[in-house]
Amino acid sequence: MPDSVRIQTDPGSAAVGEYLASMLSALGMSAAANDSGDFRLHLGGSQPAEGYLLRVSESGVELEAGSEAGLFWGIQSIRQLLKKDGEHWSLPQTRIEDYPRFSYRGAMLDVARHFFSVADVKRYIDDIVLLKLNVLHLHLTDDQGWRIEIEGWPNLTEHGASTQVGGGGGGYYTQGDYREIVAYAASRFVTVVPEIDLPGHTNAALASYPELNCDDKAPALYEGIEVGFSSLCVDKKLTYKFLEDVLGQVATLTPGPWLHIGGDEAHSTPEADYLKFIARASKIAASTGKTVVGWHEMGKSAELPTGTVGQYWSYTTPREDAAERARQFLASGGKLILSPANAIYLDMKYEESSPLGLNWADGPTSVRRSYEWEPLEVVPGAAEGDLLGIEAPLWTETITSISEIETMAFPRIASAAQIAWSSKTRPEFAEFTEQLRNLGSVLEREGIKFERAAGISWH
Ligand code: ACM
Repeated sequence: MPDSVRIQTDPGSAAVGEYLASMLSALGMSAAANDSGDFRLHLGGSQPAEGYLLRVSESGVELEAGSEAGLFWGIQSIRQLLKKDGEHWSLPQTRIEDYPRFSYRGAMLDVARHFFSVADVKRYIDDIVLLKLNVLHLHLTDDQGWRIEIEGWPNLTEHGASTQVGGGGGGYYTQGDYREIVAYAASRFVTVVPEIDLPGHTNAALASYPELNCDDKAPALYEGIEVGFSSLCVDKKLTYKFLEDVLGQVATLTPGPWLHIGGDEAHSTPEADYLKFIARASKIAASTGKTVVGWHEMGKSAELPTGTVGQYWSYTTPREDAAERARQFLASGGKLILSPANAIYLDMKYEESSPLGLNWADGPTSVRRSYEWEPLEVVPGAAEGDLLGIEAPLWTETITSISEIETMAFPRIASAAQIAWSSKTRPEFAEFTEQLRNLGSVLEREGIKFERAAGISWH
């Protein structure tokens, strides 16, 4: 490939053409728009949603798709295929016609246990699009910190955002920061799903406003890693005014269709209160016009708004009570996002001796385990059409920097991406590790950290 390349676009492919140009420039090539291109990008193909057709031959690179997103994913394939041959960049001759199995291909980042800057979140977005993931779920609130500015409730951020696990201060996103993240994600065909975790995991909010507590006494801020000790006060009117303000503002700031309200591990909310709360909170969330999402525990409620999406976080070996909760979402006309903790939770150690991460959920989680599971075997009774997609959450109790985020995510997040994108007949693990070795070279080139002690013999 010459050092100076021409990119030919049509009106529909001009924006992604600019993205391609900046990607090539970052590799040291100079790229200019031209009407006889080395790269020819065409919007208007007949590929299925997000699908693309990429042809690399002696006459250049042709990419076509029926949507801009499809073109963008095709460019990510180019990003993966580019290799330095001596002094010059090259692409192997190929023909790839591809489209995703699931429309929801997610990563979740817990910005509550530790806070991460806008720049870190943008970087993680650039990391995950390499693997054609298209959703970033932000876990914005938890016991250890409240991370999003809410007008009319200034103490949430003045006080509730000042801590994180282990101390050292916290942080939060102003509404402007959050908009900036959402816009950056959208420019990369990524939808942001905000989560306000309710009614448990709320110590930071309860510490910020005494009146949200049943006894009007604010607890101390919390910097440990226990779960399940906090609960909003289910019978207080103010609790629901709080929800209307928070969920209303977060929904307004979020162009995407989903609003996540948590619902997990509410161990200090009595069962009857939990059911009362979920019925009411999910109704408030739905009244914003968004599709409500909740962790599978919310399936205890038979009063979920129609279409509520359940996020299953139990294990790949079906756990009957969790599976039953999950099926309740299907009975309510919703779908499922699968995040089986023992296969796809990126906070899990790779092996016992890994310096980073936690060891629970039948852990540790090797790369092989992250790859060898099948979505249709997770929740018995859930068919292909019941699955919205899959998501790889990264909880950050022990994770404090973007380098550590990347090290926990890569290479296992590539397993999640492969499972989310490919048809049920995927390559055997041995063949997949060959793909990972090539991915390792791309990560190296881009300065994306990854776990080298993951049992892969990297190039
Ligand atoms: C969760 O892991 N508590 C969703």
